[in-house]
Amino acid sequence: MSKVYTITSGKGGVGKTTATANLGVCLGQMGKKTLVIDADLAMGGIATVMGLAETYVTLHEVLGGKVNAEKAIYSAHGIDVMPSGPSIGGFLSADPNKLEDVVEGLVKGYDYILIDAPPGLNKYSLAPLRAADEILLLVTPDPTAVEAAAKLRTVAEVMEAKVGGAIVNRVKRTSLLNRLFGGKSARNVNVEEKLKVQVLGAIDEDPAVGEAVRLRKPVVVHKPKSPASRALRGLAAKLTL
Ligand SMILES: Nc1ncnc2c1ncn2[C@@H]1O[C@H](COP(=O)(O)OP(=O)(O)OP(=O)(O)O)[C@@H](O)[C@H]1O
Ligand SMILES: [Mg+2]
Repeated sequence: MSKVYTITSGKGGVGKTTATANLGVCLGQMGKKTLVIDADLAMGGIATVMGLAETYVTLHEVLGGKVNAEKAIYSAHGIDVMPSGPSIGGFLSADPNKLEDVVEGLVKGYDYILIDAPPGLNKYSLAPLRAADEILLLVTPDPTAVEAAAKLRTVAEVMEAKVGGAIVNRVKRTSLLNRLFGGKSARNVNVEEKLKVQVLGAIDEDPAVGEAVRLRKPVVVHKPKSPASRALRGLAAKLTL
């Protein structure tokens, strides 16, 4: 059975694109047929993280009604990727409300579809919530990120969208206590209280993530043994349960 997850946050820059691309690659490495869709129509970065060369036909053209979805799918690191385009014209002609239908048309061909959402609370960030079976709220330990995600959680409730869990990114596992209790540190319990949802896992603050982006590679490919890569693999495994 196929499953569609949208990775979202209230606050920007918390690591959605990094997590979406890398979780997708991990699912591919586990033998799952996976598609990652870049629904950040204005500022999409999935193509960069996945190391795709220039892509001329993208989700912009699909949502603009110019091409069929299949034409905007590329393969990289063992999975399929539908990037967003770099052009302002393409962005302006893309209708985010068509995303749900596009995903519905593709879902049969995949075990997993992961959608990278833009931050904020507007028609562009809400359309990916409607297209998902489950929403994953990505936060950092920063209280402003958690509070912004809490707002989005409330909106998801109103939209009757299912929130499947939270992911805490950029966690500094310095104390032995944190290392011992991993996903259930005091900090995670606090996130669970605020977001009223289970924390599926934590991803370490890891310099390998930035290095990988600079090389236009997913970190799980660039440094598979780094702390962030190990955490991302564990999270991907959890998504398949
Ligand atoms: N676990 C991590 N360790 C270190 N750096 C990280 C980690 N996760 C993300 N980053 C860095 O944080 C920055 C933002 O990441 P990313 O682009 O994935 O966030 P985003 O939530 O998609 O942003 P936006 O809201 O703008 O779409 C990038 O420079 C990335 O390399
Ligand atoms: Mg992003």
